[in-house]
Amino acid sequence: MIEKIEQLNSEVESAVITGIEQLENFRLKFLSKKGALNDLFEAFKDVPKESKREVGQRLNVLKAKIEELYFSHEEALTSINIKNQDIPDITLPEIPDQAGSLHPLTLVRNRITEIFARMGFSSSEGPEIESDWYNFSALNFAENHPAREMQDTFFVSKGKSQKEDMLLRTHTSNVQIRLMEITKPPLRSIMIGRVFRNEAISARAHCQFHQVEGLYVDKNVSFKDLKDTLLYFSREMFGNDTRIRLRPSYFPFTEPSAEIDISCFICKGDGCNICKHSGWVEIAGSGMVDPDVLENCGIDSNEYTGFAFGMGIERIAMLKYDVKDIRLFFDNDVRFLKQFKGI
Ligand code: PHE
Repeated sequence: MIEKIEQLNSEVESAVITGIEQLENFRLKFLSKKGALNDLFEAFKDVPKESKREVGQRLNVLKAKIEELYFSHEEALTSINIKNQDIPDITLPEIPDQAGSLHPLTLVRNRITEIFARMGFSSSEGPEIESDWYNFSALNFAENHPAREMQDTFFVSKGKSQKEDMLLRTHTSNVQIRLMEITKPPLRSIMIGRVFRNEAISARAHCQFHQVEGLYVDKNVSFKDLKDTLLYFSREMFGNDTRIRLRPSYFPFTEPSAEIDISCFICKGDGCNICKHSGWVEIAGSGMVDPDVLENCGIDSNEYTGFAFGMGIERIAMLKYDVKDIRLFFDNDVRFLKQFKGI
């Protein structure tokens, strides 16, 4: 019996498999029900008891060897087959590589960051899920103050007190507070991020959009610095002949406050659809940081002053690229997205 096993072993070792057909012959000869290996297992019944252990062991080793050979060849041969089928028809015209493109909001965001970086503004970020304290209370929104209603809020959960209520931030001004808590003046930073408001979705409004917040706190920061900074930004963004106009406004966290308009860069003031025939387009809210807000963050308001502003990034992108529907920025339709190559 041992001899027969040895003989089959050398037959197996000398078998040559280079194709599917030979593989099948190998299987029939050694592995199938009527194959040589099965014959030996049949004969195993008649092996005397005292040799059963040794013979059995050798038989199992041989069986494992045959199976291993069979399966490794099977894998190699079938993957070659797949590879062969994969070779494309080289006479067909080439399919050009499709490079992706940056989202228009990313392009605008990068441009904003770059312009402010030139004026020494760093970039900071803060959380989108925020407590009432950072989104409202620390920014001087008194409890039940009607200004809270200016921004329809998505609440997430109720806290022990109003300050601890959790919500989706309605503006990026929360990052002002977080920044002033950990960084003492002088500080100069922009804060870009997503904000949420419970508004009906239309061509002009969405329940999510992006803002860029700006904050500059130091000794002797004045309203003129605010004006100069926004004028420089507007000219870099919309063209060198852009003018700005400030209108008195109200925000609980700035005093005085101003709405910033830019001269319409499409019609240059003659009147068009973009500026609704006024010659001016609103782009930002702004003002001098209210002393109470500085104090809320542990900054001495007798020593330091600051300015802040906030603008919608979609709004800038819509103006810049003449996009008429804000929803397009969130639809992920490549036909829309691939049109934007840079500013
Ligand atoms: N957070 C204000 C808004 O979303 C904008 C703003 C920012 C106004 C900073 C003044 C200063 O409407």
